[in-house]
Amino acid sequence: MSASSTKSILVTGGAGYIGSHTVLQLLLSGCHVAAVDNLDNSSHLAISRVSHLAADSANRLSFHKLDLRDRPALERVFSSNKFDAVIHFAGLKAVGESVAKPLFYYNNNVIGTIVLLEVMAAYGCKKLVFSSSASVYGSPERVPCTEDFPLAPMNPYGKTKLVVEDICRDLHRADPEWQIMLLRYFNPVGAHPSGLLGEDPRGIPNNLMPYVQQVAVGRRPALTVFGNDYSTKDGTGIRDYIHVVDLADGHNAALTKLFEKDSKIGCEAYNLGTGKGTSVLEIVSAFEKASGKKIPVVFGERRPGDCEILYAATTKAETQLNWKAKYGIEEMCRDQWNWACNNPYGYGSSDSNPQDEIISTKTKGGGDSWFSDICITS
Ligand code: NAD
Ligand code: UFG
Repeated sequence: MSASSTKSILVTGGAGYIGSHTVLQLLLSGCHVAAVDNLDNSSHLAISRVSHLAADSANRLSFHKLDLRDRPALERVFSSNKFDAVIHFAGLKAVGESVAKPLFYYNNNVIGTIVLLEVMAAYGCKKLVFSSSASVYGSPERVPCTEDFPLAPMNPYGKTKLVVEDICRDLHRADPEWQIMLLRYFNPVGAHPSGLLGEDPRGIPNNLMPYVQQVAVGRRPALTVFGNDYSTKDGTGIRDYIHVVDLADGHNAALTKLFEKDSKIGCEAYNLGTGKGTSVLEIVSAFEKASGKKIPVVFGERRPGDCEILYAATTKAETQLNWKAKYGIEEMCRDQWNWACNNPYGYGSSDSNPQDEIISTKTKGGGDSWFSDICITS
């Protein structure tokens, strides 16, 4: 049993891609979890499926549909629970959209976080795990990136992450009772091995793996590779892809550290990546292998703002959090494909997973059903 089990954790953005996987891992490790989400970029089905997968542990889950900027609604959740820590995923994450709508991004990501921190302070909860991003490094001069690299995000999305990191550092400086883990994720991909949880981007996917997935299931004709003239092994961009289940486990490791007796954590940043760089064409070929489908590619221009090569130094997380990613590209593609086959339209209604019928039948059944135990408020 880890130091974090039996604790009560508030998870913001708990219905989202990384949030839903993390909520499940927390429940399975014994925590009580209150998930809050405005469902702007997610589906209530993710929460239903987490409950289903958590089985007997689902009675430790509650879900509250709210926007973080709705202070009275957030206060109601704090006033009826005593949280030991908060994991803060809620935020907007599309880089291109952030360039077009900077105020929308600053408003949601920064103001949402300030309201959360103020309410946490008012209720005496001063332990936070924050979803930061490798985008705070911008385009680093060398790789692997260590946590002490200069921070120079290149778009409003990345800047919101840096602003929140700075707020957290200032907060800890002003009041050392705050203990804050800034987790800088590299490129999360893959899905839960059950095929029930995964990423469900709205509209045309911005990111590589969901795009490849949609080509494989026939929703899009070809992948445009953004540049094949980089000075990398095959000319395409290199990133550090990390399985979402490994990432979810990284949050358990972060909480364990926060709850250690006499934990000396103040406000610390940790990279969560694998430390391995993979090119766009290597991802395409691994996905073709996992799916048995041909992925047609078209070579296009470099995408503005993209860096050539980015991967993590992982020593700090390995030594201080005792956490290391377990899965490789093969498993990431296998689980992404399994999710795609079971949910070609994500959580969407046009092709919903047959499992949802079973789950909703159980819901209506009441009695021993998993759903009767979770409280949904809005
Ligand atoms: P996601 O969009 O699937 O999840 C975010 C969730 O937050 C969504 O369910 C959304 O509805 C909710 N949300 C957004 N604003 C909210 C608000 N004001 N109030 C309440 N709920 C709100 O994204 P994800 O991939 O799970 O990412 C989670 C976090 O990790 C984000 O903060 C993101 O910036 C960060 N991150 C993601 C990646 C990535 O590539 N997925 C990489 C680095 C960092
Ligand atoms: N790519 C293509 N074609 C596509 C999409 C992507 O060739 O259709 C390429 C990109 O040029 C890049 C690689 O695939 O070389 C990965 O691109 P993603 O858009 O999947 O990921 P990014 O590294 O650009 O950014 C992602 C998230 C950010 C996060 C960052 C952290 O979008 O939010 O990872 O490293 F901050």
